[in-house]
Amino acid sequence: MSGPPRLLVALNGSPVLGSSVDRMLRAVCEGAEEAGGRSVHLYCNALEVIPCQACGPEPTSGYCVFHDDMDRVYAALEAAHAIAIGSPIYFDGVSAQLKRVMDRCNCVTPLVRLPAGGYEFRPRWSRTRHGLFVTACSSRHRYDLAERSVRGFLKWVGARWEETIAYLHEDNDPGSVLARPELLDRARGAGRRLIQSAPLPA
Ligand SMILES: Cc1cc2nc3c(=O)[nH]c(=O)nc-3n(C[C@H](O)[C@H](O)[C@H](O)COP(=O)(O)O)c2cc1C
Repeated sequence: MSGPPRLLVALNGSPVLGSSVDRMLRAVCEGAEEAGGRSVHLYCNALEVIPCQACGPEPTSGYCVFHDDMDRVYAALEAAHAIAIGSPIYFDGVSAQLKRVMDRCNCVTPLVRLPAGGYEFRPRWSRTRHGLFVTACSSRHRYDLAERSVRGFLKWVGARWEETIAYLHEDNDPGSVLARPELLDRARGAGRRLIQSAPLPA
């Protein structure tokens, strides 16, 4: 690899610092840095984000009519070589903190008016980024609905989903994934691999 270090952006939907999702995303970031990349770990719970107001086609030439902490998120996603999304499963879906950020990224592939009439979705950047999903839930429940949502989101922001790392467990202890070193190793390995992989062909 030559040139400036590649960037991995971790978007963390967990409200709990030191939670299992947080631990796994930190391991992904460590792996990315071990491989010579940079990482930015964004905690959705700490971001000031107005919920998407579905304002329709082309309300602004920028990303969004609102300017809040999403400006940082847009800049990070645009610069990213890889994007790791993390969320606990809440009522079969992703957390509200993450969903709020995801919805505000609708304008990364905005609906534009065509000169000849009609509309089309036009991505602001090409789909060259690598994507990962990290999650935690009960071993008796499901994460496929959240995974589907995250896969669609990754596509919308110019990434390809490649892997989900799911911590399925029965305890109620924050950060209990620490007792599963093989999962943390897998997360670290995924971070390394994402940074080492060439950008996807545009
Ligand atoms: C509001 C809320 C809703 C939840 N809904 C589900 C659910 O639908 N399925 C599930 O398996 N666990 C559910 N859980 C449990 C969490 O997904 C589980 O504890 C997970 O490990 C949390 O991730 P963390 O350990 O990284 O904090 C819910 C927890 C909360 C707080």
